[in-house]
Amino acid sequence: MGMTYLFLILAVFSVVVKSQLKPQVSMAPTFKQVYSGDTIILSCDNSTGKVKWFFNTTEDQNQANKTWSIGAVSAKNSGSYQCENNGQKSDNFIITVLEYLPPATLSLKSGEPVINIDGSVVLELLVEEKSLFGWCCWVYKGGKVHRIKLKKSLTTNQVLTFQPYKLKDNIAIYWCSDETNLRSTPLTIKTSDRIVLMMILPGPALLGEKLNLRCVVLGTDRISRTIFYKDKQTIKDSSSSSYVIDNVTESDQGKYSCQATYTRSDKGKPNTVNSTQQELIVSAPPMKAVLSESAGLSCSCSSCPNGAFYHWYYKQPDHQWLSKGTHKSYTDVMSAGSYACRAVWKNGRSALSNIHYYDVDTPEINVLLITIGVIILGAVLVIGAIFMYCKRRTGEEAIYQDMPLMTVKSQDGGDGGTRSSTKNMVPRERESTTP
Ligand SMILES: *[C@@H]1O[C@H](CO)[C@@H](O)[C@H](O)[C@H]1NC(C)=O
Ligand SMILES: *[C@@H]1O[C@H](CO)[C@@H](O)[C@H](O)[C@H]1NC(C)=O
Ligand SMILES: *[C@@H]1O[C@H](CO)[C@@H](O)[C@H](O)[C@H]1NC(C)=O
Ligand SMILES: *[C@@H]1O[C@H](CO)[C@@H](O)[C@H](O)[C@H]1NC(C)=O
Ligand SMILES: *[C@@H]1O[C@H](CO)[C@@H](O)[C@H](O)[C@H]1NC(C)=O
Repeated sequence: MGMTYLFLILAVFSVVVKSQLKPQVSMAPTFKQVYSGDTIILSCDNSTGKVKWFFNTTEDQNQANKTWSIGAVSAKNSGSYQCENNGQKSDNFIITVLEYLPPATLSLKSGEPVINIDGSVVLELLVEEKSLFGWCCWVYKGGKVHRIKLKKSLTTNQVLTFQPYKLKDNIAIYWCSDETNLRSTPLTIKTSDRIVLMMILPGPALLGEKLNLRCVVLGTDRISRTIFYKDKQTIKDSSSSSYVIDNVTESDQGKYSCQATYTRSDKGKPNTVNSTQQELIVSAPPMKAVLSESAGLSCSCSSCPNGAFYHWYYKQPDHQWLSKGTHKSYTDVMSAGSYACRAVWKNGRSALSNIHYYDVDTPEINVLLITIGVIILGAVLVIGAIFMYCKRRTGEEAIYQDMPLMTVKSQDGGDGGTRSSTKNMVPRERESTTP
């Protein structure tokens, strides 16, 4: 009897203690600094059942779950977060979003952003300055953060390639950091159990960017028909297995899926399979450097912190970006290809600038054309002069006969030959493929 009574007291006591646990907001991945474009998942710890969420003390009516996932944060997400459960409010959880990129880049070296369960990818970590000494990588999956150990011998360079474990979870977020909490961009890999995969990006799509969404069938490229869906509505039905968005806008955000009709061999029976849905998140681009043509090429970033260094990059068609040193202006001899720059400082980087395309073929062709032009012009002038001389001698000069000569002369004086020696094209580059 006494024991039962004691148990009852203990039970009541534990219920009281449990209900008195104050909820607490935590964030995953465990970033020390939040940068523009990061995906964060807020969790209301020590809560049960329905949860209320507050941003800057205003309740967000759309959120009622224990976790609140914010796809790609930007400056407008800076502020204080609180959750409320069983009538108790958590303390404020402050998030300040930095409007630029983290100092290092983590990108996909091989593999795709959407893979099959038990599939894997190869990642590449790159820092702009110093070496990767002291860096390690992390993965957030299944609600937990795991450490990925890197071989010490591999961290002497500025670039490091590694292959994380096979992925069994729906989603994994990878990133790397050093002992002083400098870190890389995060990279999101998703899994699907289907043979048809809707390929989106391993990060947010940036406003104004060109985007190519692909429908992939594992093990074959014999795809005769592809239908793309956005939020379950057909947006494209054709023989092409890609969907191109020329200029990403807010309205492109949504859940994409595709249906492919494919065969395994030339005479095989066609199959039609749907992919799973993948969410495309659209985000405002971070601070961007500006490349302009003056005294060679020059780089600037007015909103970047003072004391930023300017890094230059060069790329031949179908090649990777190569580093071309650190200086305010680029005055070296230029070879044909693409040039770009970015501002780099201790804990951040701007986005890559507009791309300057330098074409050496054009001036050569022009020199040839000008030479031919001059020869033809010379011949015309000589023939014309002889003709005029003969006419004059016969005393039958007509005023309009000067016209062809004047026209030819004005063409000669034009600057068409030198103006197009460099072209300023602005093709958009994905962050994942840039240095
Ligand atoms: C309450 O939250 C803290 C911090 O997130 C956590 O360490 C603890 O395990 C939680 N307790 C319960 C009972 O969920
Ligand atoms: C809350 O959780 C439910 C069940 O898992 C899910 O269907 C719903 O989309 C979630 N709501 C939000 C806003 O994430
Ligand atoms: C939220 O509050 C912070 C801090 O007071 C402020 O800087 C930010 O602009 C606010 N955000 C919005 C969207 O009101
Ligand atoms: C993309 O669209 C926006 C808004 O319609 C426009 O301001 C911008 O100039 C466009 N960008 C490009 C590269 O076409
Ligand atoms: C594929 O998905 C679309 C949109 O949800 C649906 O209309 C269609 O019937 C599905 N096709 C197959 C083969 O399941």
